[in-house]
Amino acid sequence: MIVLGVETSCDETSVAVVKDGKTVLSNVVYSQIDVHKKYGGVVPEVASRHHIEKILYVFDQAMKESGIEFDEIDLIAVTVHPGLIGSLLVGFNAAMALSIACGIPIVEVDHIDGHIYANHLEHEFEFPLLSLVVSGGHTQLIVMNDHLDFNIIGETLDDAVGEAYDKVARVMGIGYPGGPMLDLMAATGKPTYKLPVPRLEKDSYDFSFSGLKSAVLNLVNQERMKGIEIRNNDLAASFQQSVITVLVEKTLRAISEFSIRHVVIAGGVAANKGLRERMENEIAKLEGVRLTVPSLQYCTDNAAMIAVGGYFYHMKNKEKKG
Ligand code: KG4
Ligand code: ZN
Repeated sequence: MIVLGVETSCDETSVAVVKDGKTVLSNVVYSQIDVHKKYGGVVPEVASRHHIEKILYVFDQAMKESGIEFDEIDLIAVTVHPGLIGSLLVGFNAAMALSIACGIPIVEVDHIDGHIYANHLEHEFEFPLLSLVVSGGHTQLIVMNDHLDFNIIGETLDDAVGEAYDKVARVMGIGYPGGPMLDLMAATGKPTYKLPVPRLEKDSYDFSFSGLKSAVLNLVNQERMKGIEIRNNDLAASFQQSVITVLVEKTLRAISEFSIRHVVIAGGVAANKGLRERMENEIAKLEGVRLTVPSLQYCTDNAAMIAVGGYFYHMKNKEKKG
């Protein structure tokens, strides 16, 4: 079954062609990061306009690279939620136009489900599965006992992890997006700054990163006022250590409580080297639990993950109809 995926929820214009929910025939991603860098974050209006300019080119390129013709596409999968409304509309309208013109069924995919299913491109799911969702807009722990059976056991009460990375980077004067840069700096720094580890109540799976973000902000301002130079790499390492400690601790507790067999990490922050390493080390100590993470190209926004999500939505609908 050939699925064409379309993703335009934020600042990446992407179209992909995926076979049978796992074989990527093409995955073209046009990133607008360079456009938004000068503003220090994504400007919604500018993002929509760039999607309009690029979408047809990205469609063409994805079709060319896949080596298939339009009449071979069985399903179109398009992101409809969550995201910037103007950006989402560009992808949705393009997908809808193709659906009507070629008579191809269309399925609407949730962006976060797509991030989770990015993991399926390279690894079959084993249940019960635990998904740690860490993106620019979401932080969630989700238990799945079957495909598309999402039970959210914890989520952030304020900032998402990626958002906290980007805001801390901004305070430190590092460009947008801050996550990749902070990750790189943390690798050569030492966690010598004392920062809070926001664990919340003992048995809670929820997260909160705004206090940690404010602690970094206060520290930077206080040191600046005293004329003391911030050791940027050490501060990045300290911040990253606090974040990873919380994410890993809650993941490990959920593995034990829900008898998890497979852990996946989903969303842009899944690209974080420090998080991948710590999680790998900790889960390697457990018997009968497997950790898989997407390749870096499938961590941040891409249409291949939307195509896989759409494939599973379609399979489930077919099952329901008997
Ligand atoms: O999933 P994503 O591409 O977009 C959303 O759905 O939000 O995630 C983008 C987020 C940004 O906040 C970015 O700073 C963060 O992922 N990110 C990282 C890394 N790479 C991307 N954060 C930490 N370490 C990284 N290596
Ligand atoms: Zn995303």
